[in-house]
Amino acid sequence: MKKILILGLIAASAIAWFSATRPTQDTAKLETTDAQSNIQTSELSPAAKTGETYFNAKCSACHGLNATGTENGPPLIHKIYEPNHHGDESFQRAAAFGVQSHHWPFGNMPPVQGINRAEVAKIIRYIREVQKTHGIY
Ligand code: HEC
Repeated sequence: MKKILILGLIAASAIAWFSATRPTQDTAKLETTDAQSNIQTSELSPAAKTGETYFNAKCSACHGLNATGTENGPPLIHKIYEPNHHGDESFQRAAAFGVQSHHWPFGNMPPVQGINRAEVAKIIRYIREVQKTHGIY
């Protein structure tokens, strides 16, 4: 009887230890499927919806549908791209001049042809609204 009690105690502390060391919401990796199922295009403002169209045409090949990332580029719905860390101008610069690889192992981002600042501004609007629905702002 005593043995069972001790075993129970060990199991309980193991469970407590595991739940204490689980990653918090902050560091948890955003799952592609979560991001895709959580966002409803109807929740977007009209400007963001237009931005989504540009995004899907010019950025999603690498950054993925709903900016959740692909094997060619990182997710933009990610804490490191929150407005405080990557302001709107960094999106404009990325589109106009490309990006030297520095955060990820995907290689450089080439400049994006056939898109202007006003269109990128709408893409930013789209990204920011989707980020917000994921608690990134
Ligand atoms: C050919 C693939 C590709 C396309 C197309 C592409 N990107 Fe990227 N992008 C990348 C990669 C790869 C990185 C990551 C670079 C790194 O390692 O930090 C990146 C990084 C970025 C960053 C982060 C910039 C920074 O300062 O760190 C932004 C913002 C961005 N992309 C926006 C866009 C937008 C907006 C579009 C469409 C207009 C776009 N990208 C199209 C591949 C792409």
